[in-house]
Amino acid sequence: MVKRLALITGGTSGIGLGAARKLAPSCDLALAYAGNHERAEKARQEFEALGVHAEIFARPLGSYEDAGELLEQVKSSYKRSPDILVNSAGSIHDGFFMTTDFAHHEKIIREHLVVTMALCHLTVKGMYGNKFGRIVNLSSISGSYAKRGQTSYAAAKAAITGFTKTLALEVAHRGITVNAVAPGLIATPMTEGIMQFLEKDPKRTIKKVVPAGYAGTTEDVGSLIAFLCSDEARYITGALMVIDGGRSLGDPGS
Ligand SMILES: NC(=O)c1ccc[n+]([C@@H]2O[C@H](COP(=O)([O-])OP(=O)(O)OC[C@H]3O[C@@H](n4cnc5c(N)ncnc54)[C@H](OP(=O)(O)O)[C@@H]3O)[C@@H](O)[C@H]2O)c1
Repeated sequence: MVKRLALITGGTSGIGLGAARKLAPSCDLALAYAGNHERAEKARQEFEALGVHAEIFARPLGSYEDAGELLEQVKSSYKRSPDILVNSAGSIHDGFFMTTDFAHHEKIIREHLVVTMALCHLTVKGMYGNKFGRIVNLSSISGSYAKRGQTSYAAAKAAITGFTKTLALEVAHRGITVNAVAPGLIATPMTEGIMQFLEKDPKRTIKKVVPAGYAGTTEDVGSLIAFLCSDEARYITGALMVIDGGRSLGDPGS
């Protein structure tokens, strides 16, 4: 039987890699990344050792054109369109709104929001024809739970939620589900600096800021994403799944 094809942007690191590991038993994998070839090759070899068909695609994403080129590369390798799309690519660079160059904010919006919308636009037609599709877009609790220095990141992540719900509504009748996942603090290369910072500040240790008392893992988020991509999750669409150990509920107190 032909396995489903999952295109995972940011699939070579952190949450994207966590999702790839959980999807690997049932899917062929197209793992896209920006430029860290060493990390990507390591991921490819991990899947190869398990007998999983996984290919890596280096493509910094910042526009519709970039997304189109990535998809062409994937289609030319696999001779088919993705059945599953996980939009997990993106970086984070905090900066106060007033004092940060506007180009920085535009870059964040393009990288997180425009690229997510572009890849949905480019892949959903194939899913529509096949009467099956699973799309998971990475939002963040930062989209609703404000943090200094994250204006553009928050704008992009909040917009991803609205976009996800509306696209879900438009394509639900063709067996396509579109959901958003909003993680809190998850231990990945992206958050290494934040975790070290929190551990050094006695007033703001992870135990104090996360009600569960610890940072989430890529396995936690990967499991959720894989479930949303499964047949069992066919009736879940347009949802924003918060996965944050209670971080956005309020102050855990002492
Ligand atoms: N970690 C958290 O606590 C957390 C919380 C909420 C939301 N999120 C969201 O979850 C997603 C994944 O985050 P993560 O923590 O897993 O990050 P990560 O470990 O830093 O991995 C990011 C992945 O995205 C790729 N990437 C980054 N910028 C790209 C670009 N412009 N074009 C193409 N690929 C790009 C990276 O490729 P290279 O390795 O080649 O650079 C890497 O594969 C992001 O959307 C993030 O906003 C994360």
